[in-house]
Amino acid sequence: VAPDGTRVFSLTAQEGTTQFLDGVDTPTWGFDGDLLGPTLRASRGEQVAVQVRNELPEPTSVHWHGMHLPAAMDGGPHQEVEPGATWRPTWRVDQPAATLWYHPHPHGRTEEHVYKGLAGFFLLDDPDAPDVGLPQEYGVDDVPVVVQDRDVAADGTLTTERAEVGILGSVVTANGVRGAHVPVTTEHVRLRLLNGSTARTYAFGFADDRTFTQVASDGGLLEAPVPTTRVQLSPGERAEVVVAMAPGERVRLRSFRPDLGRIAAGFAAGANDEFDVLELRAAATLEPSPEVAGALTALEPLRAEDATVTRTFTVSGREINGRRMAMDRIDATVERGATEVWEVRNLDLVPHNLHVHDVQFRVADIDGEAPPPPLAGAKDTVYLEPQRTYRLVMRFDDYADPDTPYMVHCHLLLHEDEGLMAQFVVV
Ligand code: C2O
Ligand code: CU
Repeated sequence: VAPDGTRVFSLTAQEGTTQFLDGVDTPTWGFDGDLLGPTLRASRGEQVAVQVRNELPEPTSVHWHGMHLPAAMDGGPHQEVEPGATWRPTWRVDQPAATLWYHPHPHGRTEEHVYKGLAGFFLLDDPDAPDVGLPQEYGVDDVPVVVQDRDVAADGTLTTERAEVGILGSVVTANGVRGAHVPVTTEHVRLRLLNGSTARTYAFGFADDRTFTQVASDGGLLEAPVPTTRVQLSPGERAEVVVAMAPGERVRLRSFRPDLGRIAAGFAAGANDEFDVLELRAAATLEPSPEVAGALTALEPLRAEDATVTRTFTVSGREINGRRMAMDRIDATVERGATEVWEVRNLDLVPHNLHVHDVQFRVADIDGEAPPPPLAGAKDTVYLEPQRTYRLVMRFDDYADPDTPYMVHCHLLLHEDEGLMAQFVVV
């Protein structure tokens, strides 16, 4: 913490190696290490600053996914950092507690940079929020888990064979580790799940099909806990879950076959794939955990009826509204303070998703129907089932900058790189 109270972080993107296969080195990239990056953590109200240093042989950028912040600090394709250079964004954290993350966003090369290993968590706390009985001891009963898949050749190289959605790898890792396990010493454990894959959608559950509780989505707590046996996350999405454990038991977190909607027959999108992700291993005696409260938070109202502008975004192939991303074209101009409805339709018979920078939106409806409870909370990324229409409500507070755009794009990173991205400014 600097003398003026700013919380200062530093991240250095660098080359390294990781053993995904026993005894075989894979060249990877990481922040401050060989793979992934440190967990950054700050509280609501704090000023943060990050020194982002690039020691890679090519330009990259670091985007704060889910963060409400000025466009010039966002770390998108307009804020690339040259090799040997340092970029110093700073902003004030002003949003509810949440599990956010950071990753590169260089123009046309995001998939490659994330696939090589550049990603990390950015956790936000809210010291004024009431205690609702969630486990909160980092690394003990509150564990961030980034799930990724890669394809690794026998000689260790990362391969990049692509299906239409992108790379669907068979080497699945949790926090970069294959066959990971988590020692559990408490009755409840909270997992902060992040789909950090470039293309694959996961449907998380437990091998014994036990019920667990989803407590948060991308942008923070749900209004009430949702008991469930599955949590489906497309690339970029997060969910926080609380799992009850019995003394001495072991249970595997698994990704079951995801429900991708009505996709084209014979189409490879990972719909039939199942993976074990990690194992929870409970100690012979467990410390008591508090009960999760029946009400977690009151979300600020964000209603479609209050919107003054409705925009349409049709998603197809590698285009939004019939156009591919162009760095020098602004696709939408939003007025600061406006509440808007973004009506998003996936025209294809293949999966996409949609991520909006700067805001946490609410899903008002899907084909006119209210969203299921896990999609009713604060979201910044949403899966787009083929041929359905999602109405998203969002408000653009605080930051205006006519010269620097934010991005809206498909978070299947191959699609993003190939043009399924648009730019908006807030004025
Ligand atoms: Cu997680 Cu525009 O990205
Ligand atoms: Cu897509």
